[in-house]
Amino acid sequence: MNLNFNLNVELFDFSRKSDLKIVSSFKKSKDKKKENNTSPTTSTSIDIKHLSAELRNPFSNVDTYKNFEGDYNKFLYYPLSKGSMGLMIGLGEKDKLTAEKLRQSIALIYKAISDKMYKVVEFDISSFNILSDVSKTAQILTETLYMTSYTFNKYQNIKVDKKDKKDKKDKKDIIFSVRNSKEITLVKEGIEKGKTIALGVNFARDLVNEVPNVMNSEYLAKVIVDDFKHLKTSSDNKVKIKAKLSAKVLSLKEIKKEKMNLLLAVNAGSVYEPRVLYLNYTPNKVTKNTKHIALVGKGLTFDSGGYSLKPSTSIVGMKFDMAGAATVYGAFRNSILLKSDHIISCFIGITDNLVSSKAYLPDAVIQGRSGKTVEIISTDAEGRLVLADVLNYSMDFRPKIVIDVATLTGACVRALGHVCGVMGNNKELIKKILNAAEAQDERAWELPIFEEYRDDIKSTIADLRNTGNSSNAGAQKEAAFLEHFIKEGVNWAHLDIAGVDSASHLNYCPKGSASGLMIRTLTEFLLHK
Ligand code: BES
Ligand code: MN
Ligand code: ZN
Repeated sequence: MNLNFNLNVELFDFSRKSDLKIVSSFKKSKDKKKENNTSPTTSTSIDIKHLSAELRNPFSNVDTYKNFEGDYNKFLYYPLSKGSMGLMIGLGEKDKLTAEKLRQSIALIYKAISDKMYKVVEFDISSFNILSDVSKTAQILTETLYMTSYTFNKYQNIKVDKKDKKDKKDKKDIIFSVRNSKEITLVKEGIEKGKTIALGVNFARDLVNEVPNVMNSEYLAKVIVDDFKHLKTSSDNKVKIKAKLSAKVLSLKEIKKEKMNLLLAVNAGSVYEPRVLYLNYTPNKVTKNTKHIALVGKGLTFDSGGYSLKPSTSIVGMKFDMAGAATVYGAFRNSILLKSDHIISCFIGITDNLVSSKAYLPDAVIQGRSGKTVEIISTDAEGRLVLADVLNYSMDFRPKIVIDVATLTGACVRALGHVCGVMGNNKELIKKILNAAEAQDERAWELPIFEEYRDDIKSTIADLRNTGNSSNAGAQKEAAFLEHFIKEGVNWAHLDIAGVDSASHLNYCPKGSASGLMIRTLTEFLLHK
């Protein structure tokens, strides 16, 4: 992750020396066009009345700009007085603009300016204040700028000579300019919140993108726990955390003692020890009404499929199989830094799934931590085995709600595409998660667990099979499997993120790279009362 800009808020002052001033324009809807137009030279279709005179007049007074009508994502550079440059962004019709459309625009703007010479770039915040909430607007802009600027390029242009430092590009200064001093504090808050969330997303992306010859189970556990232990003291965070934080890392010995034999089976072919992480955040103020929410993540550092080996075309990309772990940790980290009122525990099961003479076999029957026996049909349905033991372990800590997140099934990708599948045992919890996703413009959709899916994972020689008899409704049968490891009375949701771990259709998600999607949704959920 390398960030090549600083972000600040300042009072609008046209005479400030900045290389580029970014402003917005809207397209007038058809009926509004009919109304009398005040400026004879401006196109009748454009709405720029929200701009201050210094930014509006140089545009209005030039005939050539007549064809620029404020269409969505159309850009126009125009000279301002005193030698500075304006960049006008078309945001389309005002009442059709959404927060997500704004994110897409801001991401394009960032791409347009990032490799240019501009040293100081100014955003006219009121230009983008679509929700009439400058703090929220600043947050959305900040998140988008940080998410868009993310690159995973540590393996490019590595200098062989250690003395020869990597080229250091000058950092740009991005300024959010506001109209009155009251807005300064609000925008500052928005920047801080947006930065925290986006850095959580980028931290998770770094974990997911890391290559599997580096990212093994012991390494993943160490990187997460190191970050967690430094949350209170990190210079990145300006917030003081008074809450209690604790971490427990279960080693091979302890995992054996816990009888997590399903996780151990998946790990049997590995040269690395498995790890189970239990991280806990307990806020300062706890009452008997404080909710305890557990997050559980699938951390497969590489999934070859095991003896049910994946074909060479679908094995590529399986370094992403720990995206569930990275997602829950990213959301957990954000809600600590943003001081959630809930007690939150984060459980992560970590191993790879490889082939060796010690690797587990199809046809094996294994008894997991819960006591239930599982017939292994496919060693490639390994995620549910790891989750089964870790979910069962999490139940010992008596959470009220448990949410697991995993890149679990190709079936979910086939059913929904780039959408997160949401399943579970409690309508209200599912609804809350879908609402949080909607508030963050992330795509999530409920999939039903029907009775016959539960029947289909019953085994004739053990309690359960690890895949259904038919491959139909694979995502839901998987959920039906996981349901067995949730204790009575615990509200549980399962998020299948196999289709969203990378998302090239979004301008703020780098192509071919981890998306970090669903972290914003889960953060929203965890911060909600
Ligand atoms: N990690 C995969 C799921 C996956 C597939 C993630 C494609 C991202 C993209 C998971 O462990 C797996 O292999 N699932 C199998 C299950 C099957 C054997 C029942 C699948 O989806 O094919
Ligand atoms: Mn698999
Ligand atoms: Zn997997």
